[in-house]
Amino acid sequence: MAVEVTREGAVAVVTVARPEALNALNSATNQLLLAAVRELSADDSVRAVVLTGGGDKSFVAGADIAEMQGFTAEEARRFGALGQAVMSGIEAAPQPWIAAVNGFALGGGCELALACDVRFAAEKAKFGQPEITLGITPGFGGTQRLPRNVGDGWAKYLVLSGRHLRADEALRIGLVQAVFAKDELMPQALKLAQELAAKSPLAMRYCKAAVNAAADTDIATGQGIERDLFALAFASEDQSEGMAAFLEKRPPEFNGR
Ligand code: HXC
Repeated sequence: MAVEVTREGAVAVVTVARPEALNALNSATNQLLLAAVRELSADDSVRAVVLTGGGDKSFVAGADIAEMQGFTAEEARRFGALGQAVMSGIEAAPQPWIAAVNGFALGGGCELALACDVRFAAEKAKFGQPEITLGITPGFGGTQRLPRNVGDGWAKYLVLSGRHLRADEALRIGLVQAVFAKDELMPQALKLAQELAAKSPLAMRYCKAAVNAAADTDIATGQGIERDLFALAFASEDQSEGMAAFLEKRPPEFNGR
């Protein structure tokens, strides 16, 4: 199985597991990832997801170069569209996705991490968009999500040079949110996931949707979306519970209604 899904309570852990190819994404793996994204998105009992790479060397070392080598333009378009569907599915998922980047996150691997809501990295992780060195462009959303995350300058530096960044450099430019020693990465990612899983799933979905909208809209439209989601939150039991719990000085118990 190239994609494994396990559960730890309300948290799902998705592992891309093709360590013999440094977890490179071929079509079959992307199909399995897409199925996992759809299944988890439809499961209300899943409140947060951690995504990582199998083995101890790589998160995902990119799209599968051996498979892509002989593509016609039309096959390349289909391959890109499948990968983009995976990334967009993660971005649109109701739950937060946390990338636990345990090694190489190159090309499609960097794009996969970028589709997640939060990125944690191990100290030895490496980030980059090396497509230019293969005579191609990024194709799973990297040219769009990189500038949104790190600005045009860093995005162009990475995409045009194909250079790799160390984890500390990725942290400095805002590509990742935290860096941990190798053995601390999964515990820290799971700790954040459990923390997010205990929050209101409704408010979580609205917050994620509102921030996602910021990348695609002018500020007036974006604030309109924010206003509507804020209003909608007041139609929920979770809002009543969250505010009552604060005023009664007790922890809230959210039920997602
Ligand atoms: C297929 C890959 C692969 C990839 C590694 N492997 N990356 N196979 N596609 N992207 C395979 C190697 O061929 C090798 O197989 C095995 O994994 C171990 O890799 P090595 O190169 O021996 O390891 P190492 O010397 O440690 O180098 C690690 C590495 C290097 C720096 C990550 O493997 C590398 O540069 N990989 C390619 C990275 C890349 O260019 N990614 C972007 C791809 S394009 P064997 O059988 O020899 O043991 C892309 C486009 C996305 O992602 C959009 C598409 C629409």
